[in-house]
Amino acid sequence: MSNFGLYEDRVKNFSWSIAEEELEYRQGNVLNIGWYCSDRICLKGKAEKTALIYEGFGGIRKVYSFNDIRLAGNTIGNFLRSIGIVNEDRVCLFMDRIPELYLSFLGVLKIGAIVQPLFSAFGEESLFVRLENAQTRAIITQSKHLSKVRKIIDKLPHLEFIIVADHNKSKKLENREMAFSLQESEPVEHLEIYPTKAETPSVLHYTSGTTGLPKGVKHVHYSLIAQYLTSKWVLDLQDDDIYWCTADPGWVTGTSYGIIGPWSLGITQCVLDSGFSAQAWYKFIQDNKITMWYSAPTAIRSLMRAGDEIVKEFNLSSLRHLASVGEPLNSEAVIWSMKVFGKPFHDTFWQTETGCIMITNFPGMRVKPGSMGRPFPGITGVVLDPKKYEPITETGKIGLIAFRPGWPSMMRGYWNNEEKYKNKFINGWYLSGDRSTIDNEGYFWFIGRDDDVINTGGHLVSPFEVESALLEHPAVAESAVVAKPDEINMEVVKAFITLKPGFTPGPDLELEIMNFVRKKLSSIAMPQAVEFMEKIPKTRSGKIMRRLLHAKEWGEEIGDISTLEND
Ligand code: WT7
Repeated sequence: MSNFGLYEDRVKNFSWSIAEEELEYRQGNVLNIGWYCSDRICLKGKAEKTALIYEGFGGIRKVYSFNDIRLAGNTIGNFLRSIGIVNEDRVCLFMDRIPELYLSFLGVLKIGAIVQPLFSAFGEESLFVRLENAQTRAIITQSKHLSKVRKIIDKLPHLEFIIVADHNKSKKLENREMAFSLQESEPVEHLEIYPTKAETPSVLHYTSGTTGLPKGVKHVHYSLIAQYLTSKWVLDLQDDDIYWCTADPGWVTGTSYGIIGPWSLGITQCVLDSGFSAQAWYKFIQDNKITMWYSAPTAIRSLMRAGDEIVKEFNLSSLRHLASVGEPLNSEAVIWSMKVFGKPFHDTFWQTETGCIMITNFPGMRVKPGSMGRPFPGITGVVLDPKKYEPITETGKIGLIAFRPGWPSMMRGYWNNEEKYKNKFINGWYLSGDRSTIDNEGYFWFIGRDDDVINTGGHLVSPFEVESALLEHPAVAESAVVAKPDEINMEVVKAFITLKPGFTPGPDLELEIMNFVRKKLSSIAMPQAVEFMEKIPKTRSGKIMRRLLHAKEWGEEIGDISTLEND
């Protein structure tokens, strides 16, 4: 039986106080996500229930109860406090998906500090701009990632503590570096939880836009209210579920629904940190009897490509509910999942900025393959006319997806960037930056983004960031970066490049340039294709005409090019 009930009833009788009551939260009281995800679950009699099942490379397996994660959070929080970390200090988590990542997340929040999770595959430049922007005071990392931190440490005077979670004592630590081992620390039974309130900052996630550096999206502890209720109603999490969110906590899905939502509900969740393969994924579901699976279209398309036969080699009958997020979920993927798993993936649309699922196909609701579904109860979602910024009432017309601000997990600002934050609002609407149509039953059908940001495998990449990195390569004079269509990732990064005199285009240089970006930024931001050009098309005012190059890649009409430079 689903948690959800009838959509119309839920919408009619909706109030966020439903979640507040279930969480026994009263306005003005202390509200701390770290406590809610561990201590409270123990107080509810689930101390011995499994909270985390972790599987790493080579089949390493670790299991933690809610009491274990409560103690670990305390121990890490206590350690951070002992070195002088105080409330609202930014503490970056720069680790693979090892248990310490999840446990540190709780520890940082318990002492009222702000947690800044970053994808461990980031190269030094991606890491630097985010640590610099947030003026991060401490970073918790692993030995294998230490060299990247060392390369930028001199440029980061605010980064006082580099904490290594798996330090090998035979190696020497340098200035500002220190070892902290959870296993070797005395578990802290009692930690004084910092009395964070609803509006106290909690999580800082970085997201890319078209222009400028990545923006730090500031969330607050009150986000819990929305993450809790959406986990219950959309992901349909129930007490005996074994849940698997495939996302990395470097991205918001991996925190909102890979930590906060499930643990605040006292749900057992699984983490697989050993790379992607269809066999490994199906085996993981089979071995752990996973019932609820939250994944992403690129992964689903990769599984589709691996074929139907391999699915039959595993017993996947534990699966009860499936959901997807991050990029357009094409109808073929939904139909395929019906065929092989006997149930559809339920699409969910949301953003780093929204903190929780905004538009979705609810459990039990009729899924229209290719549609994102309808707004979560309590969320007013519309499409706006792109010129007048007023809601479009006609069905089937393309508009800008917008939401009425005020839900609990809405971002509270971009870190130190009031102007960019203000630009996200117009006529009392929050602009998502995406385009969609709405059909006569209120279902949203995604059209595309309203900017140049590239969504590759569910990860947003700023063309500006890649262009800036490319410019640092000695051979590159100018570049323009756009999305190129891709069967699995939907979009991949493509770079158009003009070379400085004395450099000759060719496959060696192409590879060298790709690798250069991979090291500086990440494998996600690395161009999968490079095209050398004589000249980059620009507007008369000198702005790169990405639109023209994009249209060429996608075989689309070029549209108005009257502002194109014509010499
Ligand atoms: C952008 C937000 C929120 C979790 C991961 C992404 C795109 C997200 C869908 C969907 C089509 C989607 C949008 C959005 N997107 N979900 N179901 N269908 N597109 O968070 O990195 O902030 O990216 O991802 O373009 O604006 P994010």
